[in-house]
Amino acid sequence: MGKVLGDLILESLVFNNYVMDETPNTPRKIKYQRPRGTYDILPEDWVYLDMILNSCQEMARFYGFQRIETPIFENAEIFTRGIGAGTDIVEKEMFLIKGGRKKPLALRPEGTAGLVRAYIEKGMGNWIKPVRLWHFGPFFRHEKPQAGRFRQFWQFGFESFGRQNPIIDAQTVQIIVNVLRKLQIKDTITHINSIGCDKCRPRYLKKLKDYLEPYREYLCLDCKKRLKSNILRTLDCKNEGCHEILANAPQTFESLCKKCRQHFKGVLEFIETLELPYELDHSLVRGLDYYNRTVFEIFAQEKDKAKIALAGGGRYDDLIDILGGNPSFACGAAVGVERVIQLMREKSVKVKKSTVPQLFLAQLGISAKREALQLFEKFRKANVLIAKDFSRDSLKSQLSKANRLGIRYVLILGQKEVLEGEIILRDMKTKTQKKIELDKVVEKVKKKIK
Ligand code: HAM
Repeated sequence: MGKVLGDLILESLVFNNYVMDETPNTPRKIKYQRPRGTYDILPEDWVYLDMILNSCQEMARFYGFQRIETPIFENAEIFTRGIGAGTDIVEKEMFLIKGGRKKPLALRPEGTAGLVRAYIEKGMGNWIKPVRLWHFGPFFRHEKPQAGRFRQFWQFGFESFGRQNPIIDAQTVQIIVNVLRKLQIKDTITHINSIGCDKCRPRYLKKLKDYLEPYREYLCLDCKKRLKSNILRTLDCKNEGCHEILANAPQTFESLCKKCRQHFKGVLEFIETLELPYELDHSLVRGLDYYNRTVFEIFAQEKDKAKIALAGGGRYDDLIDILGGNPSFACGAAVGVERVIQLMREKSVKVKKSTVPQLFLAQLGISAKREALQLFEKFRKANVLIAKDFSRDSLKSQLSKANRLGIRYVLILGQKEVLEGEIILRDMKTKTQKKIELDKVVEKVKKKIK
């Protein structure tokens, strides 16, 4: 038997003298690079994305959310009106596509506004309430790239429409925390606040303005503008000087009307019932204008590390109305996938590696190659994972590939074996081999590798 294989290897080496199946791979200077703030999703990244997607699917099934994906570009007006013209996202970060159009399109900077557009357009207001949708896809913001901040990034999100009950807000937090827990990110804290409604918020904005006016000259340029255009945004200014001034600013909670106060109390009670760790954060207002009442951000609690928001969300009961639909309640949240993956990597979370075949099919000679092609399909139909390299003619290089892939069993088919209706099964570990009838090989090998 060993002699047959020896002969085959010799034969292949001779054959290989005439056949060049390697392409030269000398390094050249890289001419094109990916755009700043973007990255290639490599096979080693997909294992994480798959795992996150699976956790979302599992949670969505349990909590009754259905998947939706909207286009990655929309009429820009949806975002200007939905997120708010005075926000950083709309003012500074939106990728616009003009292309000679009167009304530009925009690459979606976030998912909620497009989803609400679809909700209205598809008449989801008539669906059984609450309408529960989840999504998973790429988003685009022209931000300064830095750790955890990309220009193309991925989010998954869960949104509920049609119910005002505070239990919806608490459950939104719970679903996100549960997806994160499933991904071994167990230590999270939810920062939460209420920014009231359009009835009580003006009262608060007036108080904030009265407080900030005397400090006007000490505020950053952006905040000076915000005093006039969108004063709430001053609360999440990143400038240190503004931060210090705002530390003693009046708190939104003090100005809430009775209904908003009751709602917020309800949310906190349910969050406590669910034993979700939280912290009241009076400076939390979120960078998007569509929110009312509850707003929250979810952080990973990592020792000695700067806090980074994994997720953000809240209630947006006015957005459907703003975008032209029949008013209805809404609440949701979205999670930054890159930040989750980074944490999973840092925590060395075990991910499923892609399944490696335990079997390799090597062939030698043209009639064996034809037979091997057919045999390969038989293995596929029998659901047996098998590796091969049909573009190689040399047996030596095929065996060395099987070795590099760490495959234990190699099936070797030469011209002689084809004529005799047999195939060689070689155990690369014990270095032994035997012949099997060709028409029984699938079933026999399947048993063996099980
Ligand atoms: P957001 O806070 O802007 O909210 O984004 C949610 C999460 O996406 C953030 O917490 C962060 O993890 C991630 N993220 C945001 N920008 C970037 C970036 N440039 N690079 C990497 N990750 C980023 C929203 O987008 C809302 N639509 C959430 C929502 C859903 N509210 C209600 N429903």
